[in-house]
Amino acid sequence: MLQVSGLSVNYGHARALVDVSLHVNAGEVVAVVGRNGAGKTTLLRALTGLVKPRAGEVMLNGMPITCLPAHKIVGMGVSHVPQGRQVFGDQTVEDNLTLGAYMTVRKSPKRVKELIEREYERFPRLKERRSQHAGTLSGGEQQMLAMSRALMSEPKLLVLDEPSMGLSPLFVKHIFDTIMELKKAGTTILIVEQLALAALSISDRSYVLQMGSVCLEGESSTLLEDDKVLKMYLGAS
Ligand SMILES: Nc1ncnc2c1ncn2[C@@H]1O[C@H](COP(=O)(O)OP(=O)(O)OP(=O)(O)O)[C@@H](O)[C@H]1O
Ligand SMILES: [Mg+2]
Repeated sequence: MLQVSGLSVNYGHARALVDVSLHVNAGEVVAVVGRNGAGKTTLLRALTGLVKPRAGEVMLNGMPITCLPAHKIVGMGVSHVPQGRQVFGDQTVEDNLTLGAYMTVRKSPKRVKELIEREYERFPRLKERRSQHAGTLSGGEQQMLAMSRALMSEPKLLVLDEPSMGLSPLFVKHIFDTIMELKKAGTTILIVEQLALAALSISDRSYVLQMGSVCLEGESSTLLEDDKVLKMYLGAS
């Protein structure tokens, strides 16, 4: 579904991503793990049209999407939940969800209502708080909303940047359970996480990013069994 080859990104003279290649097959959950500053967010921003790569190519279902504007990439079925959630704080929960379906809303307001109900079933907490301004939600609730808003566009590929960040263990479990449910329902997912063990546990394959380059890749179950990998690259004890 997604094919990335030789992707490099610079910020000024600083190299944030160097010759990164990876792929995500339809139906897979693929994790990108790595320490702070490894380039994980930069990678996702380059894939979703938010930063311009210096070199390399991104293909989605055989179509080049490198350098397309972000809204075009959303239109092609890629939805991105950015790091730090970024919900529209002065809008209500329900308005945030409706905004997530901005491409459907003119064609079929009825479909948008159905999608909102689907998200309320997924996260009943959002239904309880449907009229509350998103900026006043707790961190965990905002993460649920950010994920639901991304799902409102019925993406083929969901891209998640550190969905666990700043959440209590209970919320983290809830979010990771939701990722497993989405996988079962056939959504393809690319997830970036600092909680490496958790990300390896829920993914089919993983890439380890170090200083902007992929230093290791493989089946997540194989990487999980390798103590050396966990200690060396992921700082797990
Ligand atoms: N807009 C920017 N301008 C300049 N440098 C940037 C910018 N965004 C990121 N960087 C730098 O690029 C490198 C990679 O950052 P990035 O945010 O991709 O890392 P990350 O792996 O997502 O880290 P974290 O786990 O802390 O979120 C870092 O050294 C960072 O300081
Ligand atoms: Mg990041």
